[in-house]
Amino acid sequence: MAVLNALGEGVLLRVIVTGGAGFIGANLCRELAERPEVSKITALDNLSTGSATNLDGVAAELIEGSILDRDLLEEIIDGAHAVVHLAARPSVPRSLSSPVASHSVNATGTVYVLEACRRGSTHVIAASSSSVYGSVAALPKHEELATRPVSPYGASKLATEAYVLAYGSSFGLPALALRFFNVYGPLQSAGHAYAAVVPSFIDAALRGRPLRIHGDGRQTRDFTYVGTVARVLADAVVRRVTCETPVNLAFGSRMSVLELAERLAMVADLPIETRHEPPRAGDVRDSQAADGRLRELFPDVTPVPIEIGLTETVRWFRGLPSHGLAPLGGSV
Ligand SMILES: NC(=O)c1ccc[n+]([C@@H]2O[C@H](COP(=O)([O-])OP(=O)(O)OC[C@H]3O[C@@H](n4cnc5c(N)ncnc54)[C@H](O)[C@@H]3O)[C@@H](O)[C@H]2O)c1
Repeated sequence: MAVLNALGEGVLLRVIVTGGAGFIGANLCRELAERPEVSKITALDNLSTGSATNLDGVAAELIEGSILDRDLLEEIIDGAHAVVHLAARPSVPRSLSSPVASHSVNATGTVYVLEACRRGSTHVIAASSSSVYGSVAALPKHEELATRPVSPYGASKLATEAYVLAYGSSFGLPALALRFFNVYGPLQSAGHAYAAVVPSFIDAALRGRPLRIHGDGRQTRDFTYVGTVARVLADAVVRRVTCETPVNLAFGSRMSVLELAERLAMVADLPIETRHEPPRAGDVRDSQAADGRLRELFPDVTPVPIEIGLTETVRWFRGLPSHGLAPLGGSV
């Protein structure tokens, strides 16, 4: 199967994934490799937080390099149909310890990617973040709300999406900026100081250690399974989806961190102990997406429910084969 171009001719897509050896990037490469419309996948990654082994068994080429290398970007993006731009220095705490590095990769790096896309009017789909809403208290977060980031990471992701959309309006670049919420699933690493809550909890639970909760645990998040995110991104590539405004990529579920711990205890069938620690600077209190815009653009995507997503993730951590909801790599 091929996508039809303006002349009605079949075209097979060549897709670049920046950050393609990372958690979401590698899951996306696997999803893209399943799509008959895609002929070639290139992951560009400097392996700072990603890993080449995340792409084991995936029909994708890995180029080790940085999005801050403009010559490399021009070379790789030349002639590509789409760039899914996921490369970033992720995490709020990381940006607090090194704000300039976050700005450099997330803001300046994005401009470099866009400059390379501009030459061939390459379709660009970029990862923004729910952290752009920051201290705005209203729930659910809909895209027309003000943005008030409370961390350098949030500010840098606001720059990411603003540049992507500005290149759309200034240069007619086909562009889509998606605000990811709390993505979780297989390949998400637990083994570092900045690990996200789901892998940290699973790792602790499987090792029989207490789950570390920052603050009272009543803070809420809109957890999205990585298989669902990969499906949205791959659909966006294949159908060349664009939007003049940012689009939330989450489905409006809202769960507290305490509730997450309870669900995990059930799914993993393990006794779970929790330990409360002081709240972290830069963390927002509540997060829940309004999903109207997303559902309009992607009417065929149904989110994987949290029980199933957690089950798949725990299976991956235990080194067990998947039930088939996301094509998985080995265990951590
Ligand atoms: N995971 C989430 O819940 C979440 C939420 C909101 C937004 N996001 C965004 O989604 C994207 C993917 O995040 P992830 O969770 O997969 O994190 P990740 O750290 O696994 O992926 C980021 C990838 O980018 C690579 N990278 C970093 N700097 C680079 C550079 N200069 N050049 C090339 N590659 C570079 C890393 O090595 C890594 O493989 C990021 O843009 C992140 O900001 C993620």
